Amino acid sequence: MTETSNAGGFFIGKTHLPHGLMLAPMAGVTDAAFRAVCRRFGAEYTVTEMISAKALWYHDKKTAVLARIAEDEMPCAVQIFGSEPEIMAYAARTLSAPDTPCTRIPAAIDINMGCPMPKIVNNGDGSALMKDPVLAGNIIEAVRAATDLPVTIKIRAGWDASSKNCTEIAKIAAALGVSAIVVHGRTRSQLYAPPVDLDCIAAVMDTVDSSIPVIGNGDIYSYSDAHHMMEVTGCDGVMVARGAYGNPWIFSEIAHGMDGEDFVPPTARERLEVALSHLDRLLLYKGGYTGIQEGRKHLAWYTKGFPGSAALRAEIMHAETAEQMRELLVPYLEKLTDA
Ligand SMILES: Cc1cc2nc3c(=O)[nH]c(=O)nc-3n(C[C@H](O)[C@H](O)[C@H](O)COP(=O)(O)O)c2cc1C
Repeated sequence: MTETSNAGGFFIGKTHLPHGLMLAPMAGVTDAAFRAVCRRFGAEYTVTEMISAKALWYHDKKTAVLARIAEDEMPCAVQIFGSEPEIMAYAARTLSAPDTPCTRIPAAIDINMGCPMPKIVNNGDGSALMKDPVLAGNIIEAVRAATDLPVTIKIRAGWDASSKNCTEIAKIAAALGVSAIVVHGRTRSQLYAPPVDLDCIAAVMDTVDSSIPVIGNGDIYSYSDAHHMMEVTGCDGVMVARGAYGNPWIFSEIAHGMDGEDFVPPTARERLEVALSHLDRLLLYKGGYTGIQEGRKHLAWYTKGFPGSAALRAEIMHAETAEQMRELLVPYLEKLTDA
């Protein structure tokens, strides 16, 4: 396979992404702990879970915690969702302020125009914005006016197969000065089902000025998937979502492939060691109860495909304390012979 040409990557504001590799925002998954692990293994840019602009407006404490960014995971953008321009502007202003709930100034403010969940779109938020390009434009304009940080958008191909309007939204966003556009090549109706429409990503590339990076997203599980998306669409970078579940190394794999270098996958022992340090960080950031609840799914992802791992995963699901998790994992790790 030939090396993907992406000479020099691109910038979002002052942030350089040498290979254009981003970790996608995923509510309930890409918290500060997971973002830091992905940074360590090659994600060049990450985005927080989506933050409700309205909840910030109402000073919701849990929402402010969701916005926290740790030092070793920068550059990280903060993603907001909502459909009222003035409330979205308030959120952008609050998150960009010196006393930001992010605890440090985020790399950018990203506007969510892709979330398909009924409780979001029924309020007119997330991907529902794609049905109202005028409102989408008003939100971008209000957010841009409220912050000096770069503003980016994350869109879908469109609402449904008969209304794929990503190029229309991209054109509006480009005219309003966004710093990057991420295109998830599915419609809202598809939710997360195949196929990913690469033509839509290519069409956005053709629509906007080359000074605005366009990042493709959807079903990237390997270098080969990333290479294919970049070759077919010409996009400037890729954003990985579910492909990073239990596999933060996907970013190094893609970067190595792009540089024409061999990638040596981590051994099972390395995977488990990283899983354990990820768990430690989750416990540190979220405390015992929530750390364990959330740690279970990550550990299940990390151990997928290991010998005898189905039984291990079943036990992990019942572990109630960090000690119990370690008591399961450490002996399992010691038995692994591939270190
Ligand atoms: C569990 C989960 C949570 C997600 N949360 C968000 C979110 O908060 N904001 C957002 O823009 N997209 C969110 N997404 C969409 C992803 O960022 C991405 O666009 C989508 O999963 C397609 O990429 P993939 O096929 O590589 O998974 C979420 C996806 C998943 C699976």
